[in-house]
Amino acid sequence: MKLKISSFSSLNQSYPEQHLNEMRNYWDKKILEWEKKRYLKSSYINPIQRRQAIIREFLLSMDPGLTVLELGCGTGLLYKSIAPEKKFKKYYLVDISKVATDQLQTTVEDSNVKIINSSIRNLDINILKEADLILSSGLLDWLEIDEIEKIAKYSKGKTFIHTFSIKSFSPIRLLHATYMKLLRLKFKSLIVSRYHTKQDIYQLFGHKSFIQKYYQGSFGRIITNQKINKLAIRNYFKARYKEVDYQKKQSSFPWILLKKLEQSLYLDYFNKHLKEGTTLNIGANTFGLTDFKKGNKITTIDPCCQDANIIDDFEIYNFNQKFDMIVMIGVIEFFESPPKSVKKAHHLLKENGYLIVFLHKDTFLTSLYYRFHKNRGINLTPISERDFINLIEKTGFTIEETRSFPLWANSYLIKK
Ligand SMILES: C[S@@+](CC[C@H](N)C(=O)[O-])C[C@H]1O[C@@H](n2cnc3c(N)ncnc32)[C@H](O)[C@@H]1O
Repeated sequence: MKLKISSFSSLNQSYPEQHLNEMRNYWDKKILEWEKKRYLKSSYINPIQRRQAIIREFLLSMDPGLTVLELGCGTGLLYKSIAPEKKFKKYYLVDISKVATDQLQTTVEDSNVKIINSSIRNLDINILKEADLILSSGLLDWLEIDEIEKIAKYSKGKTFIHTFSIKSFSPIRLLHATYMKLLRLKFKSLIVSRYHTKQDIYQLFGHKSFIQKYYQGSFGRIITNQKINKLAIRNYFKARYKEVDYQKKQSSFPWILLKKLEQSLYLDYFNKHLKEGTTLNIGANTFGLTDFKKGNKITTIDPCCQDANIIDDFEIYNFNQKFDMIVMIGVIEFFESPPKSVKKAHHLLKENGYLIVFLHKDTFLTSLYYRFHKNRGINLTPISERDFINLIEKTGFTIEETRSFPLWANSYLIKK
């Protein structure tokens, strides 16, 4: 049965074979460089890597007795990242690019792996039928409707996970669309990647599946009919963060001076507003902790700090107590969802409790600070002063005092 997809307006119904050849040439020229840039040379964790990490963790949680079919596999980076940890009954790797599959042939020798050079359109239906788990990463945006329909038809009733780019009006998405258009002009190529609406994707893959983001702020989405283990993904990234020489380097010049400034500010607030009571210091790694461990009323939480009381992520950790003061010095930009974290802080504070936030200003020094983190695999989310104040007020807090540290940050004393 042919699916009716009214709103797939951007897709060509007629699908000349010549287009497939163009697609093959395009990816033959592009795939190695593309993978090098996105995965191998990139010094920070970008959305594409996050997408792969999610699918990787997804696969690692699956039964090894399954036959897996990976469509648009490129040179098999995903497969190679799971192979040392998990061997499936059979693993099909399919790609239209001969450059990609030839490289796979020379680098993968596992007897359970079958490498196929084919477009989705010409892919043997028996393979789709045989697979128990069908996945694709970064593929749906490059296909025409008959190919997407083919994947969706055989994904139904099986385990599946596919990524796609959502049609939305986010500035990043529009910027991406412009960039892709320029590339098309530059290479005089007809190949263009596409964005899909949620409705179209649900219509194809069935309403029992669900769509989720794979990166805050990204227009990338995942459609699957299985639960995704978010904790495993976070743990994977925590391990990545630890790999980078972040801890050592952040105690170097000039950051050490700024740290001292933050410390003195914290002590000042602490002495004025919290002689007694309990404090939660989030992102405890910001300080030399020892100065603040007066008594044991300060709880510190940090996923990357061996000395913290709780070595975990504030955003997911379940606390069983409330606090008189919560400190977020230089950490709000680290959160995947600042609004959720501020809400959580509100919930965790006792009535009349204080929240202390140190928020970076939009300055040159801050841009250096962001770059410093980016180079170490940590993507920070800049928040403007206005957005921050809106967020704080919307959450039900009152700002009692703001101090400005020129060229660097504002500090806020906020009351519940
Ligand atoms: C953006 S890359 C993604 C590579 C890898 N899966 C990843 O997540 O990094 C898209 C891949 O899809 C393949 N591809 C594009 N059109 C295809 C088609 N019609 N049939 C099969 N593979 C296709 C390309 O050759 C390329 O390897």
